[in-house]
Amino acid sequence: MAAKIIDGKKISAAVREEIKARAAALTERTGIVPGLAVIIVGENPASQVYVRNKKKACEDAGFYSVVIELPGDTEQKTLLAKIAELKEDPRIHGILVQLPLPEQIDEQAVIAAIPPEKDVDAFHPENVGHILIGDHRFLPCTPAGVMKMLEIEGIPVAGRECVVIGRSNIVGKPMAVLLLQANGTVTVCHSRTKNLPEVTRRADILVSAVGKAGFVTADMVKEGAVVIDVGMNRNAEGKLCGDVDFAAVSEVASAITPVPGGVGVMTITMLLENTLRAAEAKAL
Ligand code: GUN
Repeated sequence: MAAKIIDGKKISAAVREEIKARAAALTERTGIVPGLAVIIVGENPASQVYVRNKKKACEDAGFYSVVIELPGDTEQKTLLAKIAELKEDPRIHGILVQLPLPEQIDEQAVIAAIPPEKDVDAFHPENVGHILIGDHRFLPCTPAGVMKMLEIEGIPVAGRECVVIGRSNIVGKPMAVLLLQANGTVTVCHSRTKNLPEVTRRADILVSAVGKAGFVTADMVKEGAVVIDVGMNRNAEGKLCGDVDFAAVSEVASAITPVPGGVGVMTITMLLENTLRAAEAKAL
């Protein structure tokens, strides 16, 4: 039987309507307009697309937004000075530095320079710590978007086998933590995992965050599993695709997220949620 397609666009549209209404209410009550600053360094084409989508989403939600484009040879101290400026800017509630950064810049130093209360990516070590102990200020956008999709689709996590492929700080690690907090039994796989298909076939919920087109094949998926594709890749024809062999895995899974139109749009929706939360905190 073909899997149900989990429609990220549709879920996002409903969540963004709620965010827009909350933002309007905040502005009416306090005069505060949620504001996001996105910094992009260099000309990575994928990053440019993401940043454009983030700006458009802010505008649609009634937020204030600025995009700061810096050349690829920007020195770290210039970027840190820009962050310091935004830290003091009362119009800006969220600061996001698009990753990856050019090699002359130390990513962790940049993340650490973002004030935790404006860290809408939830990458700052202080926020990561809060997430790990379960009293978060912000949740990281992609894993939070996945959890929101599961919740809205009525897919239970508690007591189920959850397998995450990938252990990045942006997706894999925080994804595992959120699934664990939802009482899933969580396994994290990575490039050194032995017998990967054997492990992934245990999953009731399989999340792939690898970054390789066609990585998850039908033989790696248990009949009836829920498959969440966090991959954002280009195939040989240059078409956007995820990690999962969508056509074949759809025949085995009970539900699956498409790429595009799945997790990606949810990531931006959760960024809006975090920016709104940061602005709402200012009103308290
Ligand atoms: N690059 C890829 N995903 C992300 C993200 O969620 N946040 C930032 N800042 N950079 C990214």
